[in-house]
Amino acid sequence: MSKLRKAKSRQVRVAGRAISPWWLALGAVGLAIFLGVQAGGGVRGPDAPEGIDLALVAAGEQLYTASCAACHGADLRGTPTGPPFLNVIYAPNHHGDEAFQQAAALGVTPHHWEFGPMPPVAGLTRDEVSKIVAFVRSEQQFAGIVRDPSHP
Ligand code: HEC
Repeated sequence: MSKLRKAKSRQVRVAGRAISPWWLALGAVGLAIFLGVQAGGGVRGPDAPEGIDLALVAAGEQLYTASCAACHGADLRGTPTGPPFLNVIYAPNHHGDEAFQQAAALGVTPHHWEFGPMPPVAGLTRDEVSKIVAFVRSEQQFAGIVRDPSHP
């Protein structure tokens, strides 16, 4: 068999065109990588929070937007009237979930910032504040805020 015929005999015909098996193999590898990424491997990166209840967080986001965003910011980065929650001092080990319940129910005497006091937020149940906390915690996790290292 001549060299030319040998090469030709290894080709595969796809849609009437001769294609080298190497291209098919490359395509298969590309497809596998693509499907792997679609399946969730690496779309969000290694630090994507786990165990987040999306329905709870979505409900919390609505309540937060209505009751807290005016001062703490729609993006949780604060406003001229309230501090940002995307700050390590509001990590769960420094301001636990109960701090949010207390803040909403009783207001806050200023002690960390120069914004002045936070007035109590009327009309929220504990359950609703828990939803707000779920939203704030998930945003904190996405921002990498999980622990205040300067706090026990
Ligand atoms: C009128 C503005 C305003 C609104 C509305 C508001 N806050 Fe605040 N909040 C503040 C200010 C100002 C502080 C900072 C007090 C300080 O200096 O520590 C604060 C602090 C807090 C703290 C920290 C408490 C602590 O122990 O240090 C929490 C938690 C909090 N707010 C939760 C909420 C939640 C939840 C809502 C919505 C239900 C909300 N805030 C709505 C102004 C506001």
